[in-house]
Amino acid sequence: MLTDFTLQEAVRLGIRVTARISLILFSIAFITSSLRFTLKNKFSFWMKNRRTVGLSFAFSHLIHGILFATLYTVDPELFYQVAKPTTIIFGGLGYVFILAMAMTSNNFSIQKLGIKRWRTLHTIGMYYLWFIFFASYAPRVAGNLYFLFLVVPMLAILVLKILVKTKRLAL
Ligand code: HEM
Repeated sequence: MLTDFTLQEAVRLGIRVTARISLILFSIAFITSSLRFTLKNKFSFWMKNRRTVGLSFAFSHLIHGILFATLYTVDPELFYQVAKPTTIIFGGLGYVFILAMAMTSNNFSIQKLGIKRWRTLHTIGMYYLWFIFFASYAPRVAGNLYFLFLVVPMLAILVLKILVKTKRLAL
């Protein structure tokens, strides 16, 4: 029953839900960045709204952050059980990238940084975040095959991106 839910359980559920919403938004932004030239006409809606999708991902992850900070506040022991030091270090760096990319997702920053530096930041940031998502879900496949539904599309998107980037696939 819903009322049997403890605050800790509710917060953990929120953390997991925001992580999965973030994964969907992230994947759309990640794949459309490579396909923006090739699929421009077919998926013009997503192409035009890529920046909004990216910022929505950042917002969803802001909620993820507020929720894990809440878990830390209400039950620090449980927080350290579910958030290992590697989660905090690698996840923390993930937040640095999310913040940097969200703050530079505007025309003014592109002009100020120059397209080359802007692209380097956003490329490294996106591949790094892909790695964090992958490292979070891939080890869990062994315990629950359901996670294949997350991990297989993630790998497919990565392969597709690499094929398009290396010009081995023309869509
Ligand atoms: C300091 C930074 C971070 C902390 C402390 C943190 C904390 C947490 C915690 C406590 C959970 C827990 C879950 C549970 O109850 O089982 C979780 C899950 C997760 N986090 Fe974060 N997180 C951080 C950053 C990130 C970043 C940057 C990403 C992705 C780019 C991310 C993606 C995920 C994913 C994919 C899950 C698994 C959710 C699921 O089961 O579906 N986290 N995080």
